[in-house]
Amino acid sequence: MARFSDVWLSELYNKCDIVDVVSDYVTLAERGGRYWGLCPFHHEKTPSFSVNREKQLYYCFGCKAGGNVANFVMKIENLTFGESVELLARRCGLPMPKLVDDKQYQEIKEKKRQIAEMHKLAARFYHNTLMSAAGADALAYLKRRGVGEETVKRFGLGYAPDSWDSVVSLLTAEGYSEPLIGESGLAAVKNGKAFDAFRNRVMYPIINVFGDVVAFGGRVLDDSTPKYLNTKDTVLFNKRRNLYGIDLLRRQRSVKSAVIVEGYMDVVSMYAHGVKAVVASLGTALTKEQAILLKRYTNDVFISYDGDEAGEIATGKAMDILEAEGFNVRVIRFDEGLDPDDFIRRYGLAGFAKKVKAAPSAIQYRLEMKKREFLLDTEDGREGYAIEAAKIIARLDSPIKRERYAEMVAEQTGFSAASILGQMHKKTANENTSANYRYNRTEKTADNSESAFLACALADIRSFEAVADEIGADEFTTPSHKNIFSALSDCVKRGIQPTDAEILSHLEREDDRNEAVRLMEIMTAAEDPVAYLKDCVKKIRTAKMKGEREALMEALRGASAEQQRSLLARIGEIDKELNRNRFV
Ligand code: GTP
Ligand code: MN
Repeated sequence: MARFSDVWLSELYNKCDIVDVVSDYVTLAERGGRYWGLCPFHHEKTPSFSVNREKQLYYCFGCKAGGNVANFVMKIENLTFGESVELLARRCGLPMPKLVDDKQYQEIKEKKRQIAEMHKLAARFYHNTLMSAAGADALAYLKRRGVGEETVKRFGLGYAPDSWDSVVSLLTAEGYSEPLIGESGLAAVKNGKAFDAFRNRVMYPIINVFGDVVAFGGRVLDDSTPKYLNTKDTVLFNKRRNLYGIDLLRRQRSVKSAVIVEGYMDVVSMYAHGVKAVVASLGTALTKEQAILLKRYTNDVFISYDGDEAGEIATGKAMDILEAEGFNVRVIRFDEGLDPDDFIRRYGLAGFAKKVKAAPSAIQYRLEMKKREFLLDTEDGREGYAIEAAKIIARLDSPIKRERYAEMVAEQTGFSAASILGQMHKKTANENTSANYRYNRTEKTADNSESAFLACALADIRSFEAVADEIGADEFTTPSHKNIFSALSDCVKRGIQPTDAEILSHLEREDDRNEAVRLMEIMTAAEDPVAYLKDCVKKIRTAKMKGEREALMEALRGASAEQQRSLLARIGEIDKELNRNRFV
């Protein structure tokens, strides 16, 4: 974000009218000073998506998502902030800013460009070699595995000849230095001499979301080891942040759901058989970064790992990571140690479609796995499973879903659904201490004055400036409110008076921007904004103290006499403070 200066961004926002840009994607009609249309981000029949020309913002009253023109493009085109800004700049003919102020950034960018260029040359070379006489054996190997020429072309597969200097000499001839070739990962450098890193291997180019080849996986043609060599991390490539197959997935218009597999070959083979939304983590356990990357394109995933024990363990880990990022996760398991490639070659797309249809949700899968740990034909086994199952079910938010699964477990164990639900409540009651509960409740009440404060501050940044020092970011309870406050006070400190649209470029998280636009929408002008803001500060503090007081009162019960004394002392202080505020 910091790549663009506020001045330049402000010029961009001035030139790119949000109504014009949104109109490319949504049919808008003017009504009551706003433009309305059907929200492109959620399904609806009557328009609740609005564009405010004056403020240069969009906001959907249905899904409560909003932002400025760049945020709109980010979301609808699946781009990063930088990418969407670049697209808008091109659209309105504004030259991109020169980033002269950051020399190191420039150097890294140039190095990345060169390494990407080298990978492009290498990919072309490997591919041409595969298609030439020298690649006949490798091509035959791929054919034997069911990978035809069309698939070879689609994935840009190649063959690295059994030579120490094919790629090195190719790249040196193009003017690249040996140290840089070494740094690219295409060569290894020993005693100051570079030699090809990949020899006699089938080459899988790893292509990022921009369509650039950034790394390779190279597989031997026989059973020798190591089976795969993968490009080490470079300035251009970080395996934790890339997914194999992501470029082909990105190019699809709408992705309903994606399949995650373990291997390169699984991606290639599934794609060739018609499963087109498929990606693999790059020889590591699935990472949070990879999950976030995938989330750009879909919310629904099927984990489809190898049907061996390692695959089962990896499935459990991937499930946790994907659920934490908000995916709907379903699980596909294969018998007999088959991997997705084996399976789809044996049973075809139709066989896989059956698996997809029958795939259990994450919760069903967890229950199923847990059940296997117990002998359900013994009483102890049934009891043990019922208790463990209750813990799994407790992780669900929906009471209806809880009941549904409790009933299922009841049927399997002979205990009543009510006692399984009871077991679960017992557990949650213990884990959720009353102090925690109180805290959550306070968070809710304080949220109103926080919202009021920020809404007023956003509407009138001059007034905010007058009271900015009277409250700190950590006094806000929700992360979004903390971030919005920090963004505002940063602007004030740097002497900028941003417009609504400009403030949003200081908020990196989508949640924060949605909340900021919501706050911009709810604000009704205060008569005396400075006094209003000060009043909000007082209310935020009062709510916090009341919350603490409630928690302390709760803690009094069951405290020892000595603990009670110190608790009461603190309560006394709070009461004094609360009283003082009341009469100020
Ligand atoms: P095939 O044996 O050709 O079917 O390969 P695969 O793609 O099915 O791979 P497999 O399921 O054996 O392994 C999954 C992934 O782990 C591979 O695609 C690689 O990314 C990675 N991997 C497997 N073996 C090795 C290895 O020996 N070294 C390294 N670094 N990575 C490996
Ligand atoms: Mn395989």
